[in-house]
Amino acid sequence: MRSVRPILKTLLLLAPLTLGAARAGGGAAPPAAPTMNPASAVQPARPAGSAVSLRALADARGLLLGAAVNPTLFDPNEPDYALTLNRHFNAVVAENAMKWAGLHNNREAFAFGFADAIVNAAVKNGQTVRGHTLVWHDSLPPWVYTIQTREELLRAMQDHITGVVTHFRDRVHIWDVVNEAVSDAPGHPLRPSPFLNLIGPDFIDEAFRAAHAADPGAKLYYNDYNTDGLNGKSDAVYELVRGMLARGVPIHGVGFQAHLNTDFDVTGAQVQANLQRFRDLGLDVQMTEVDVQLRPARPEADELARQAAVYRDLLRTCLNVRCAGFITWGVTDFNSWRAAGRPLIFDDVYAPKPAFAAVAQELRK
Ligand code: XIL
Repeated sequence: MRSVRPILKTLLLLAPLTLGAARAGGGAAPPAAPTMNPASAVQPARPAGSAVSLRALADARGLLLGAAVNPTLFDPNEPDYALTLNRHFNAVVAENAMKWAGLHNNREAFAFGFADAIVNAAVKNGQTVRGHTLVWHDSLPPWVYTIQTREELLRAMQDHITGVVTHFRDRVHIWDVVNEAVSDAPGHPLRPSPFLNLIGPDFIDEAFRAAHAADPGAKLYYNDYNTDGLNGKSDAVYELVRGMLARGVPIHGVGFQAHLNTDFDVTGAQVQANLQRFRDLGLDVQMTEVDVQLRPARPEADELARQAAVYRDLLRTCLNVRCAGFITWGVTDFNSWRAAGRPLIFDDVYAPKPAFAAVAQELRK
């Protein structure tokens, strides 16, 4: 992880004093370059990230502004991670800890310890937790693949959902029940998975019914990627959830992951029209995994400005349709799942980027 922070590493070697100042503070300025005279690079200490609290701005608008978290949250060498999370976000999602393999690797017993630690920290800090995710083709333990019949897999899926939702029932009130069930193939049929292959297309309805039975008060979401704008895949998701509503399946929202890059054009892709059609079905919508990768081999300042514009346009669109949440997929660039693209609003040393300013400005409006 540290290897993606060469500047920090250099600072660590050359000038501990400079490092401390850059990491504790950080205005919009990039981290100080290594210097033989550390004192000249000292910046005034400020609270993690920025004097502005995005969380306060989001609270004022009634918006869930969240971030996905990973084990760095509990790393004693990374206190700025939790400081930044708690200062700027009123919602939290576990990046991996609540996936099937994370909670239920052993068929006979759930392992809730790490997920509980994340959820309890969030509750203690007054943050809303999004549960992610109950049924996904990825991150499945080997035992799921050994099941041979529809009946057994349906029962296993229902038991998994019931066990997880029941366990978190007092603390988690929003769930991604089914994740990425629609494929990218032409015509966008449902994606092959043990669930589709063995149970059939009704695994989706059955998953939502099981989650609803375990916690009738929870908001239940379908979540997917490349569905942010109007396109064939979002059409397929639209038809899927419209059918579910017609069948009386308990679904309450749709999550749009928004894993993007700086070439994405929020207006051109017609994101607002897309989100609005789901709102018109009576569903909540959230941007659930926002990150915007910089494109390689382009001037950095231009790319950071484009990144800020994508964040601004996406958040504005989200607010325009009264979305329920805007969640970034990580806290800070260095341990993003796409760290090379530096896709988040805080940089490697937790300093706010131009995208942070764009988000703050949009929330203030
Ligand atoms: C990703 C995590 O960020 C990675 O750490 C992990 O290795 C794979 O999963 N869509 C989702 C998320 O719904 O759960 C994925 O998270 C990213 C794509």
